[in-house]
Amino acid sequence: MKVLVVGNGGREHALVWKLLQSKQIEQIVCVPGNGGTAIMERCQNLPLAVDDFEGMSQYALKNGISLVVVGPEVPLAKGITDYLQAKGLMVFGPVKAGAQIEASKAWAKALMQEAKIPTAQFAVFTEAVAAKSYVKARGTPIVVKADGLAAGKGVTVAETVEQAQSAIDAIFQGQFGSAGQFVVIEECLIGQEVSVLALTDGLTIRPLLPAQDHKRIGEGDTGENTGGMGAYSPAPIATPELMARVQTEVLDKAIATLRAKGIDYRGVLYAGLMIAPDGNFKVLEFNCRFGDPETQVILPLLATPLEELILACVQQRLGELPPIAWKEGASATVVAASGGYPGEYEKGQVITGIPEAEAAGVTVFHAGTKLNQQQVVTDGGRVLNVTGVGENLEQAIAQAYAGIKHIQFEGIYYRKDIGYRVANGKQ
Ligand code: AMP
Ligand code: GLY
Repeated sequence: MKVLVVGNGGREHALVWKLLQSKQIEQIVCVPGNGGTAIMERCQNLPLAVDDFEGMSQYALKNGISLVVVGPEVPLAKGITDYLQAKGLMVFGPVKAGAQIEASKAWAKALMQEAKIPTAQFAVFTEAVAAKSYVKARGTPIVVKADGLAAGKGVTVAETVEQAQSAIDAIFQGQFGSAGQFVVIEECLIGQEVSVLALTDGLTIRPLLPAQDHKRIGEGDTGENTGGMGAYSPAPIATPELMARVQTEVLDKAIATLRAKGIDYRGVLYAGLMIAPDGNFKVLEFNCRFGDPETQVILPLLATPLEELILACVQQRLGELPPIAWKEGASATVVAASGGYPGEYEKGQVITGIPEAEAAGVTVFHAGTKLNQQQVVTDGGRVLNVTGVGENLEQAIAQAYAGIKHIQFEGIYYRKDIGYRVANGKQ
């Protein structure tokens, strides 16, 4: 089988890496891919934009590609699945109506309310005056969110009324483009975040191993929010008891409610949870895709061939499969970022040490890299995901750090404390 993978991050490199472990997969084309997918055997990059649906469909139909696996949310929200399905291709990823679960926070909150899924109290506003008086009435801390896709930048956890008000102004003044037509204001939740990614065929929904992401740039979870600076899996805070509750109180309800709305949702449903100190949880957000960097720690532990799961979702027979099988142990990934990220940073720095890191036992997934005359150079804020696997989390974390020591490029930055909560025995 030939597969087309859409996207260019560490998540897509990990998807390609996992799919290529199967002999069933003859060839993968990655659109547009990165420096990592460029140099893998049986994989090639195709320089098209992720929303060039016509370009992808022509290429796929001409070259015998039967399955398209979509990484990022933007093409899903723009309807890539609807478009390519209409051309006769199998697509892993929800249709446009389903992708609203990520593309509109107001829509997702309404769905949670309808489905009685536990989530933070909220209100939706279409203009600033009412939003600001709501903030004054509720007090702080309070969370202000732009409604639409904002590349992870549309959320402000405001400590003061002034902060909340300027976030409201920024959104309505169009700082996030069309993401700013609505503002969602939410109760501020405290606790620990866990990502539960689940695979669904629209009828059955099965969680993958829970993972924990580290979103802040600084050690001890301080400083600006980023796309994710590291992750580990499984996350011990998501106990089997908690996962059983997530299945019935979140995943099953979400899929049943989507179906009741006439939405046949097939792909990944990612629930971002906040687990309170008392062990209860609420859903912070849903995403319509694999998490990044969660995928880079979940897939190394997956024992069931990924393409079997993906095809079962697309063909609506996930319920017929045996339970998803996992390898023993744990994995951790540390993100090597460009100096300055998540602010401005340089691109084009030569990267060395990847073979030495891999010789030390890690898997290096490329994120923001490209090939420049056979040299791998930096091409984004999050550059590499150095991933270790071990018998337990401590070993996986130690391996990832032993590997990343070998990586060098001008301005490299990475957090030294990925997994620190587990390593400190705080969970
Ligand atoms: P979201 O895009 O909705 O996941 O928000 C991004 C990040 O903002 C989350 O990962 C949390 O760290 C934080 N966040 C979002 N909603 C809340 C909330 N209600 N209470 C506290 N933190 C939140
Ligand atoms: N790691 C967070 C996300 O993928 O949204």
